Amino acid sequence: MKERLDEVTKILAKLPPKEGLVWINKEFGDSARFSTALGMEDQIITNWIGREKLKISLFTLDTGRLFQESYDLLDLTAKKYNLTIQVFFPDFQKVESFVQHKGINCFYDSVENRKECCHIRKVEPLRRALKDATVWITGIRAEQSANRQSMEMIEWDDHYKLIKYNPLLNWSLREVQDEIHLNNIPVNALHANGFASIGCAPCTRALLPGEDIRAGRWWWEDADKKECGLHIHDAATIVPNP
Ligand code: ADX
Ligand code: SF4
Repeated sequence: MKERLDEVTKILAKLPPKEGLVWINKEFGDSARFSTALGMEDQIITNWIGREKLKISLFTLDTGRLFQESYDLLDLTAKKYNLTIQVFFPDFQKVESFVQHKGINCFYDSVENRKECCHIRKVEPLRRALKDATVWITGIRAEQSANRQSMEMIEWDDHYKLIKYNPLLNWSLREVQDEIHLNNIPVNALHANGFASIGCAPCTRALLPGEDIRAGRWWWEDADKKECGLHIHDAATIVPNP
């Protein structure tokens, strides 16, 4: 795939996100995969895939610790758009062993435990979800964190050996909210209760007035550690099994 990166980058750079997805669909079909965490950005992409009847395949990673509201949205979205959203689960033996050795809520005890939990419950299933994929589509926006500001809209992911496409990278929160309202796109009910970025239930809280949109994720950790390893592949995120 790497040999197509320049060509794909040139074409996608000129296309707005929806048209970019239509082009990806034409070129790569269902070997292009979209990972949805059911966030607002993800719901916008799902809306386009559903309405344009694209073959791009959708999947979500169920860590086993999600909010009921997220499962409700998953169910509602799949039915509304008549889409299959494949659900990937973690390896049960790894989860059992980890919980037995470290404790059910051990992610609060250290960054190391937290990253190990994210690795078992998210990163390892992601590897399976992306097997044989040509393109990985995400709902990442640059404004979400300092780390994401250095990302490109189209990049080569050397870890998974595929083209990564972040169509909404340069969108503002305002643009996201407007697109949601204009098109009546379903979103997580927790947003109405002050939740912004939503991940696992024990690791997400509502924002306090004036807080940054990522402040509710892993709120007990320093801001520079707030990534789960899905989108960065440094040595610290690749931890051995317990
Ligand atoms: S995270 O790395 O901090 O958890 P975030 O919630 O901001 O990520 O989501 C950014 C993008 O990562 C989403 O648009 C989606 O493409 C992908 N992603 C994150 N979590 C999941 C998940 N549980 N299942 C599928 N994709 C996910
Ligand atoms: Fe585990 Fe929390 Fe990471 Fe979810 S966000 S996988 S519960 S550490």
